Amino acid sequence: MLAELKRIRQLDAGYDDGKILCSICTKPHPIARQAYMLFLDSNLGDAGLFPGTAQLEKEVIGELATLLHGENCVGHVVSGGTEANLMALWAARNMAQIDAPEVVLPESAHFSFRKICNLLNIKPVYAGLDSSFRVDPLLVEKCINQRTVAIVGTAGASELGVVDPIEKLSRLSLERRVWLHVDAAFGGLVIPFLHDPKPQFDFTLEAVESVTVDPHKMGMAVIPAGGIIFRDRKALEFLQTETPYLNDQYQYTFVGTRSGAAVASTWAVFRALGMEGYRKIVRKCMKITRFLSQGLAEAGFELVVEPTLNIVAFRSKGGTKRLAEKLWQQGWFVSYVPRYDCIRIVVMPHVKKRHAVAFLKDLNLTEKL
Ligand SMILES: Cc1ncc(COP(=O)(O)O)c(C=O)c1O
Repeated sequence: MLAELKRIRQLDAGYDDGKILCSICTKPHPIARQAYMLFLDSNLGDAGLFPGTAQLEKEVIGELATLLHGENCVGHVVSGGTEANLMALWAARNMAQIDAPEVVLPESAHFSFRKICNLLNIKPVYAGLDSSFRVDPLLVEKCINQRTVAIVGTAGASELGVVDPIEKLSRLSLERRVWLHVDAAFGGLVIPFLHDPKPQFDFTLEAVESVTVDPHKMGMAVIPAGGIIFRDRKALEFLQTETPYLNDQYQYTFVGTRSGAAVASTWAVFRALGMEGYRKIVRKCMKITRFLSQGLAEAGFELVVEPTLNIVAFRSKGGTKRLAEKLWQQGWFVSYVPRYDCIRIVVMPHVKKRHAVAFLKDLNLTEKL
């Protein structure tokens, strides 16, 4: 069986050869793997049986909150950005208690919000982007009405890595007294470690009520490790479900049985790397990002935007979609993004300078095929 599993595993792409350039996940840190193995049977869905793991979860949430400049925040390690975004809108909707609720989203919002709106019966209202592909606050303002239960901004959009003007959205939220959720699933573990300029996106901004930040992306924890952080403990009241036969009286997450191993892996990698460790990783990823974007520009490709985070998006005059298909045939896993007609590369920690050099070389050859 093991031999068969190993053979089947060979069908999957691997991170080691640096050819995966389209994933927002990466190879977990070695300590994250070890910690994961120690907690394989720990279930935070029944936290009363696992008080040790529950303590680790509190510590992880505390560290994420501190990183995001929050005080007395609460939250959970969840299955990923989708569940984290779900919990934020669920709480906002339940708190507002409005008939026919609506949420204002950037046109560039992650597709998870489409599932979430469908599940929660919230109408998504999309606000347009400005010329830098960030949501236009004036258009957001026009979308707000008495049925709006929340507005959402993205700090590190999945496709281009741009950061919405969260500061302006925060002012708007305060004026219109509406919940502001920040989807920093990707950017939450990048932006705090950038050199200036550092876009503002976290609890420093008064109206930010909730932030999604996923350790299983740039945090190098083992999947499934998403994170939802709420500014105010009260948010959890709107998510509370009684658990009649378990050892804890309530659950607050959407998912019931939850991986304690993912929590332990996050705790361990936070402890092993510390803030300085993450800063180094982000510095390296950004250096390779700049190397790639310069190389692309020099080779005549059009950059969609100057990268803010470790995502590069570019176009080819000779046909971008066709080029993306050819790159796949050459074994390079890149994304093609129809919305912007661009190829998108995410420079995750498994992508090294030598991979970027090899990619640029192959790209120039492939372009001529
Ligand atoms: C900005 C953003 N939000 C949410 C998600 C959803 O996260 P997950 O796939 O972990 O559910 C992603 C995934 O890439 C993302 O980039």
